[in-house]
Amino acid sequence: MAGADLVELAKRRGFFFGANGAYGGTAGFYTFGPQGAALKRNLEDAWRDRFTLREGNREIEAPTVMPEAVFEASGHLEGFDDMLVECGECGESHRADHLVEDATGIEDAEALSGEAVEDLIRDHEIACPSCGSPLAGRDVEDFNLMFATSIGPGDGQPGYLRPETAQGIFVEFPRLKEYARGSLPFGITQIGPAYRNEISPRGGLLRLREFTQAELEQFIDPEADEPPLHRVEDVAVRLYPATEQEDDAGEYLDTTVGEAVEGGVIGSPWVGYYLGVAQEWYERVGVDMDRFRFRQHLAGERAHYAADCWDAESEVDGDWIEIAGFAYRGDYDLSKHDAYGDDAFTVFKRYDEPKTVERATVDPDMSVLGPEFGGDAAAVAEALETLAGRDPDAFEGETVTVEIGDDSGDGDGGGDGSDGGTRGIEVDADVANFSVEEVTENGEHITPHVVEPSFGVGRTVQTLLAHAYETDEVDGEERTYLSLAPEIAPRDAAVFPLVTNDDRLTDLADRVAADLRAAGLAVAYDDSGSIGRRYRRQDEVGTPFCVTVDRDGVEGDGPETVTVRERDSAAQVRVPVAELADELAALRSG
Ligand code: GAP
Repeated sequence: MAGADLVELAKRRGFFFGANGAYGGTAGFYTFGPQGAALKRNLEDAWRDRFTLREGNREIEAPTVMPEAVFEASGHLEGFDDMLVECGECGESHRADHLVEDATGIEDAEALSGEAVEDLIRDHEIACPSCGSPLAGRDVEDFNLMFATSIGPGDGQPGYLRPETAQGIFVEFPRLKEYARGSLPFGITQIGPAYRNEISPRGGLLRLREFTQAELEQFIDPEADEPPLHRVEDVAVRLYPATEQEDDAGEYLDTTVGEAVEGGVIGSPWVGYYLGVAQEWYERVGVDMDRFRFRQHLAGERAHYAADCWDAESEVDGDWIEIAGFAYRGDYDLSKHDAYGDDAFTVFKRYDEPKTVERATVDPDMSVLGPEFGGDAAAVAEALETLAGRDPDAFEGETVTVEIGDDSGDGDGGGDGSDGGTRGIEVDADVANFSVEEVTENGEHITPHVVEPSFGVGRTVQTLLAHAYETDEVDGEERTYLSLAPEIAPRDAAVFPLVTNDDRLTDLADRVAADLRAAGLAVAYDDSGSIGRRYRRQDEVGTPFCVTVDRDGVEGDGPETVTVRERDSAAQVRVPVAELADELAALRSG
């Protein structure tokens, strides 16, 4: 089914539709209708079950608005840009790299410089998709994707809507590590909205300005922590490594997680572990695994924080779309927040055995060092330690550059009364007052590394609808249905009285629906139109089971019964009412 048809079907059947239609619509914002909201919630629950509960991780919910300082530290203010070209004729803005990719077949134009993209626009005579005017000669600019806001009244404090849920986890690390009793490895998850002011939103839920992410930040000690790889080592995966893409050979590597990690195709065992977990999870929720692969990022394609990255990609309407990213973020985020924030973004790593080490202690009494050091004991101590490590003889005769005071001119930083600056001082080990002593250390402060599986919920919803869409023939009539996994389908079941003019049937149907709802199932009740029509309506939204109350079920001396029809096969079985909830639960879990 073509992408536009899928978006139209999603709207017709109550899955999702463009938001704010009464006010002309707002590109990049979608509302989930009754079916879509239920499906999305089921998908998030399935993700929570697999990536939070079963992994023993913990979930948090952080604010979506964060102060500017967070994004200075994270690098988003500086580097979270897309390439924008504005049409001189109609004023519409477009993603310059996407236009180049579409026109040239280049796969990763984002990695090119602005000038290179401008040249390609000129050489390939690329025109504005909105009005057809040539874009040659227009500047390609960097456009920061974050939505800016102001926190508090008046000018307030500058803030931004978070562009990834991850930052809400990173900034809270100093407290989260306490909950984990300071011990690695531990994982924190979050499901929630992220915001990006995309230049050209498109494709239904594929490129939105507000979308839901489900992210896991796995904090590890890279020297010591190993993932439980044995759990997924036999999981079969289809990989598309960067080397294959660079050679343009396009060959997939069908292998297992264990082999790919052992052979070094997947560089990090942690990334490999989560690719295996994700492979099984995508299969569970109903992604067609013949239309699924893991693609490694090319070097120029990686985000500013990622040392290695693989994407989960699904094929929708002939295109491969990224539905999740698995990045090895190293210590990038925590080091940055450690440098910019007030708290410690490290954990104390206890040694198995205490270690005896030599440590230099510089005498803070600077009298012996004299006025040439400006009396700034801390600065001298730091300079000596940096230069010489722990060996006093090592800097005998060296020149130490000491920063003296500040250069702000406010007069309270420099001990020598100057406005700051640096001075080179030749050090005489005999007069530099420090001593070296042996101390016993029980451990050290380390910055954990981060492995991050990051899922786009909306893109997965769109994938599931595209992959579940089926047509066949039932009772000589063509039908379309959504073959959604029962765990994910918006409803668990629908209940119908076969006819509405028999109180025995309507009363029992009412009671059956109420009992199933009380048992925690999401149940629709439908008594309008022919029974065939009612089945079709449920097939179209993917309801896996239809329960029909007919006369055979209420007549006679035996227990009350109903028929249960399974969506894909359209096969029916008769089930006692008393066993219905258990029977549906069993059918639901396959
Ligand atoms: N914390 C890492 C991160 O945000 P990302 O690759 O930028 O990585 C992760 O985003 C996932 O979020 C993507 O794989 C995609 O599924 C989803 N996503 C990203 N931008 C999106 C957008 N504009 N609209 C819908 N989904 C998006």
